[in-house]
Amino acid sequence: MISHKNDVALKELIVGLEKWSAESGWAPARIFTRFLPFKNHERISPVLHSGDATLPLTTVVTEAGVRYGLDFAAGYSHGLFLDQRANRAKVRAMRPKRVLNTFAYTCSFSVVAALAGAETMSVDLSRKSLDRGRQNFALNGLTEKGHRFMADDTLDLLPTLDGRKDCFDLIILDPPTFSRGNNGRRWQVEQDFEGLLCAALEVALPKCAILLSTNCTKFDSVALERMARVCVKSKRRTADYPRFATPVDFPDGYGASTLWVMVR
Ligand SMILES: C[S@@+](CC[C@H](N)C(=O)[O-])C[C@H]1O[C@@H](n2cnc3c(N)ncnc32)[C@H](O)[C@@H]1O
Repeated sequence: MISHKNDVALKELIVGLEKWSAESGWAPARIFTRFLPFKNHERISPVLHSGDATLPLTTVVTEAGVRYGLDFAAGYSHGLFLDQRANRAKVRAMRPKRVLNTFAYTCSFSVVAALAGAETMSVDLSRKSLDRGRQNFALNGLTEKGHRFMADDTLDLLPTLDGRKDCFDLIILDPPTFSRGNNGRRWQVEQDFEGLLCAALEVALPKCAILLSTNCTKFDSVALERMARVCVKSKRRTADYPRFATPVDFPDGYGASTLWVMVR
């Protein structure tokens, strides 16, 4: 799938893909394109650019041996964010025991955590996305035992968790830039990320790993770290902020900005 902001970029990307395809000897069976608008309400489903239009718009893909369902007719996003590939690998390698996956979407982080043996709590406003998450569990031979799927507003739910019972050694905070939560409440990542991280720190066990991620262009990883340091200090915790190389296909400035906060 080629995501583009205008027709000139789309043309350039298609030409680049054709060239690379000829050189590598690998040709995609189908190419979808997706326009990236500035405003959420202008978002539309991906469009088939080339390939067999009679094939189903749902399919299953494999990443590092893990299966995920994609649906190109489900709306703007097809089900798996490729720029989180390295973070999914890290979650699996960390072998967490108790994972809180907020803004879980199709639960890809929960799937890799569950495959590593963790219990998971996946929270998302969208029941449909959580149902797709359940399907991703099933696709990987995982049952729902030890896994909770909660259709709720993360901002309502997080402060109600009892840190003595519901505490976690890995927490994913990957909110959208804007959203409307329960009761029409407006979420805006620039103003509200700090409060979210502070609430997460209340349920973070010692040695908890917290992933912060955002597509908001005003937050690069340096700004994320500055914000995280303020929250960690205000909660009288200490943490390390390791830096990891960005994937070659998502260099700095492309894809989500992410930061791992490793609570001590
Ligand atoms: C950027 S996606 C998360 C992607 C996910 N972390 C992944 O890697 O697949 C944002 C998700 O947040 C959900 N969402 C938006 N506002 C929310 C809220 N206040 N509480 C819970 N979920 C929310 C949306 O339904 C959407 O599924």
